[in-house]
Amino acid sequence: MTGNEIRKSFVDFFKSKEHKHFESASLIPDDKSLLLTVAGMVPFKPFFLGEKEAPFPRITTYQKCIRTNDLENVGRTPRHHTFFEMLGNFSFGDYFKKEAIEWSWEYITKVLKLDPERLYVSVYKTDDEAYEIWNKEIGVPEDRIVRLGEEDNWWAAGPVGSCGPCSEIYYDTQNMGKNNEEINCKPGDEGDRFLEIWNLVFTEWNRLEDGSLVPLPEKNIDTGAGLERIASVVQKKDNNFETDIFMPIIKGIEKVLDIKKEEFEITVKVIADHIRASVFLIADGVLPSNEGRGYILRKIIRRAFGAGIVAKQKLDITKDDLFLYKLVPYVVENMKEAYPELVEKQEYIEKVLRLEQERFALTLKNGIEMLTEEIEKMDKEGTKKLSADASFKLYDTFGLPFELTGLILENQGYEVSEEEFNQKLEEQVKRSKNSRVTVSDMIKDDFIDKFFEEHGKTEFTGYEKFKDEGKILHIAKSEGISGYEVIFDRTPFYAESGGQVADTGIITSGEFEGKVVNVVKKHDVFIHQVEIVKGIAPSVGAEVKMKIDADRRKDIQRNHTATHILHKVLRENLGTHVEQSGSLVDDEKLRFDFSHYEAIEPEMIEKIEKAVNDIILSNLKVKIDFENIEDAKKRGAMALFSDKYGDVVRVVEIDGYSIELCGGAHVKSTGEIGLFNIESESGIASGTRRITATTGHKSLDYVNKLEEKLRKVAGMLKTDGKNVVDVVEKYIAEAKSIVKEYEQLQTKLVKYEINELLENVDEINGVKVLKAAFTNKDVNELKEIVDRGKEKLQSGIIILGTNNDGKAIFVVGVTKDLISKVKAGEIVKVAAQVAGGNGGGRPDFAQAGGKDGNAVKEAVDKAFEFVNEKL
Ligand code: SER
Repeated sequence: MTGNEIRKSFVDFFKSKEHKHFESASLIPDDKSLLLTVAGMVPFKPFFLGEKEAPFPRITTYQKCIRTNDLENVGRTPRHHTFFEMLGNFSFGDYFKKEAIEWSWEYITKVLKLDPERLYVSVYKTDDEAYEIWNKEIGVPEDRIVRLGEEDNWWAAGPVGSCGPCSEIYYDTQNMGKNNEEINCKPGDEGDRFLEIWNLVFTEWNRLEDGSLVPLPEKNIDTGAGLERIASVVQKKDNNFETDIFMPIIKGIEKVLDIKKEEFEITVKVIADHIRASVFLIADGVLPSNEGRGYILRKIIRRAFGAGIVAKQKLDITKDDLFLYKLVPYVVENMKEAYPELVEKQEYIEKVLRLEQERFALTLKNGIEMLTEEIEKMDKEGTKKLSADASFKLYDTFGLPFELTGLILENQGYEVSEEEFNQKLEEQVKRSKNSRVTVSDMIKDDFIDKFFEEHGKTEFTGYEKFKDEGKILHIAKSEGISGYEVIFDRTPFYAESGGQVADTGIITSGEFEGKVVNVVKKHDVFIHQVEIVKGIAPSVGAEVKMKIDADRRKDIQRNHTATHILHKVLRENLGTHVEQSGSLVDDEKLRFDFSHYEAIEPEMIEKIEKAVNDIILSNLKVKIDFENIEDAKKRGAMALFSDKYGDVVRVVEIDGYSIELCGGAHVKSTGEIGLFNIESESGIASGTRRITATTGHKSLDYVNKLEEKLRKVAGMLKTDGKNVVDVVEKYIAEAKSIVKEYEQLQTKLVKYEINELLENVDEINGVKVLKAAFTNKDVNELKEIVDRGKEKLQSGIIILGTNNDGKAIFVVGVTKDLISKVKAGEIVKVAAQVAGGNGGGRPDFAQAGGKDGNAVKEAVDKAFEFVNEKL
């Protein structure tokens, strides 16, 4: 059976047992406690815990998974992978141990037709129920059932949460393939004889924070069988990499890299594993970066690339060596039956891989150069071991992954200690932790906690009103900042949050007037930083009038609503992988950071700008609602920073166009935004782009200034705005022809100069030597003189120097017949040294510079003397 057939037969089998087949969930779990989907049950965690009701009592899946805890072992053992698929059947309060065990046996023996004599099982040490089912009902003899402890036969997704005893099915590989160990052992013992192929978990417990177990609301089943292992058994291979799940990809690697698996076992396997993981991670929206999942992806890509480069022994990397993306078609071809979405994403995946490799190639280049220097040093010192300091410097300063340092060294017969390297890494982590500065908070947390208990949150009225009145509940002289910190019972001042800056404005109370320069929010208590303009600071209880700077706020609102439109337009034009990763909205501009893998072409920027302006001009209403988060998500709301939201969320809808959860201030309809203008697009980190843009008054200012400049230029050119481009083009053409003419004249001049110079040629022992010192002569002119001079002299030496605004330049030429006597490089060096410089060059032509232009004459004379001695 092929891998594809096994996958299908599994799903079909459980469908026949009334299971609903669910598509594989994303590798990015909907679960904040996990970075990646690590098991088939991950998408169903809420059903096990009873947090959500399962839509079907029986589900079956083949689930893509990634585990990176044993990354180092990948390729070195027959079974370790980062990416793998888990076949699973699940029961949520429906069937339990009996059916789970019976069906697993039926599938293995009847569908896969594995020899029952080779099957062993384990049960949790006290699980008599499972033992009895295996022994009495299935008929597995006692000598092929083992009872194992918590380490082997208790399964949990994490330290807390659903868990339970499990029962594992093993396949005995003795006397198959290379495994001929005649060892009298059982599953659970050391060695490779017994291969675990299926884990049946009887999930009936919930482990709490304190370690205690409480029964789950219902008894559940979670089973997981690794597809790659099953395939290796069914296809009688003693290594997962030899199955048809990997072989076509391995063939692709051999072809693309032009190497043979037999010679490069580990390399080929590492690449085969890592390219699968990379393809699936990228397809699920992960981009290489320095954090979280992005970091894992980057690490995997770089390891695979590095392994290939090392195998090829090709350290001068060119574009042709960026091989990983060329493997994508092999992965897609092999996996598309189960994951058809890969086909449409293929081009995108290739692009991401290519860009990441390009980026890494640069790093590698520098790193390898440094490593080569280190190796030379080691040879000199007569050692074969790279020091920990050097390996750490290569990693820390030159970005060379440690694994690669190891591989390169290993290949050339040197070594390096991973342990010592890790120690250095730990020291560095400690150092950077210690040097972190703690920023003192505006108001200490414990104060705010108490304040909140007593007064509750500040009522924010600033969505509707720009003016309001309130009472002072707290006022204190600020520590470390000028003015006072004031808390009112209510406020129209927006406190900085969600990327939107705080409002500024004025507060007054009787004779007192204060300027609000900043507002921050803690526990929804708004703390205003107030500077006194007039009078003395009022006390607690005073009634104050508050007025925000309304014009400034309106500009902020323009930028905020424009940010929402931009977000949507980017997703529509660049793809749904675009996700906001940061934003700043103030009165001057908006700054939007988002995930995208490459620079955006100017035409696309124009298109995006126009699309945003089209939405603005459609004057769509901006509607604000408070809704249940689930309803909002159902309506397609883009939920950002969702962890900050409670159940009821504020939903900002640009009528029929975009919906986002957002606490910010917005215009009433898009027409208010005015002209939207993109100022810049740039990369701020790998995989993250930044757009800055202006709206309303700022865009108008920009256009006005542009117009003014254009008018000025037109005035200078004595034309008007309309014709300015034509006139500039005309001037440029004229300038070009003048330069050309100038160059021609220059050549003529040189010819004339040469003739004059040659009248004063010296002769030393029959060799013609021409020397001259000039002022302010272009280096090209000197070269021209040397070339022409050589032609004219046919045999001779020319030494020229010029003092160009205090700097010295020398050019020396020696005709070929004389270079055995004296070389241009030597001569120019003598001259340059006199002028405080250095230089060299070819035997027949050399050029050099020096700091002291006034020494040119002396330098040329010295060089002449040197020639004199040599001839
Ligand atoms: N959750 C169990 C495992 O991952 C069975 O699916 O092994």
